[in-house]
Amino acid sequence: MKKKVIFLTSFLLAILILLSTYFSYLMNNHTKKELKTMSEKTTFSSIENTPLFKKEYEKQYEKIVIQKESNFLAEVNQFLDLKYEPEEINQIYAFLRRDNIEKLLSSEKRNVKEYYSITNFDVDKIYRYEEYQMKHNCSLKEAVLKVNIGLDHDFYTQIEEIENKNDFTVLVNKYHSLGEYEPTDLKPLSYDARYQLREQARNAFEELLSGAKLEGVFIRPYSAYRSYEYQASLYEKYVLQDGKEVADTYSARPGHSEHQTGLAVDVWSEGFTEITENDAKWLQENSYKYGFIVRYTKENKSVTGYIEEPWHLRYLGFDIAWDVHEKGLAYDEYYDLYLK
Ligand code: DAL
Ligand code: ZN
Repeated sequence: MKKKVIFLTSFLLAILILLSTYFSYLMNNHTKKELKTMSEKTTFSSIENTPLFKKEYEKQYEKIVIQKESNFLAEVNQFLDLKYEPEEINQIYAFLRRDNIEKLLSSEKRNVKEYYSITNFDVDKIYRYEEYQMKHNCSLKEAVLKVNIGLDHDFYTQIEEIENKNDFTVLVNKYHSLGEYEPTDLKPLSYDARYQLREQARNAFEELLSGAKLEGVFIRPYSAYRSYEYQASLYEKYVLQDGKEVADTYSARPGHSEHQTGLAVDVWSEGFTEITENDAKWLQENSYKYGFIVRYTKENKSVTGYIEEPWHLRYLGFDIAWDVHEKGLAYDEYYDLYLK
């Protein structure tokens, strides 16, 4: 009996200790929270007596993180007049550059919450996004992606010189030029030494040829690295033959061809001067395993500006080629969303 009483008493004591620890933890936390609000209030109370303090915005002020800008309160009032919520105002000051804050202040309210949920959103392009969205009646997310690629401008009208020309992930298209870049690690293909690729791409391509063969798919290269000058002569020939508009749908202008990177190769089926449907299917389903993607498909024509080219393989390395394949995106889209 005595033992039972001792046991029960210690059990109750233990529970009491546990409960009191828990309550003291809760109290502490509560006090901390109160202190935080208090300090925010204290900061705001310092502006309470200034002429810019508007009583009707008192509640909103409390939720706004104070910034150092000298005209901050005046701007906050303007944003609140425009019906921005405190959370949006905090986002604006956390993310935007000064010139863009000013742009927002002088125009009607924008849904900044929606913009910031789009990872590749770029505030410099805010007006281009809106224009694109209106013109194409698409989602904001799509407008952001398309405008970032440059598609609100005609091909070859807004050209940027590429900075990372030597990277295996380099993006070359009608908006990005390689200039007269020449890779320094070109190696001839063992199939035919007239064709060259950068060493890592060459090795991967040889593995692709052997792998294909093992599965009964016989393909061969017919164009690989092309210099700026060679691409210029090819393009010129096509323009004479078909006119500029048509040539642009199947040939890159000099400086804009992936072949100039030494990372692209065109293949034909053995015994043919084209790629057969069967071999094209094999490439589409398997080339990523060797680090290549089929760069120009019928699904991505409007993004790349080229007709479907089931023969044109672009080396990216296994990880990225696999991911691009998996996500089913044009490389231009993938680059903007995941690599930029
Ligand atoms: N045919 C592809 C687009 C090129 O000329 O690079
Ligand atoms: Zn090609």
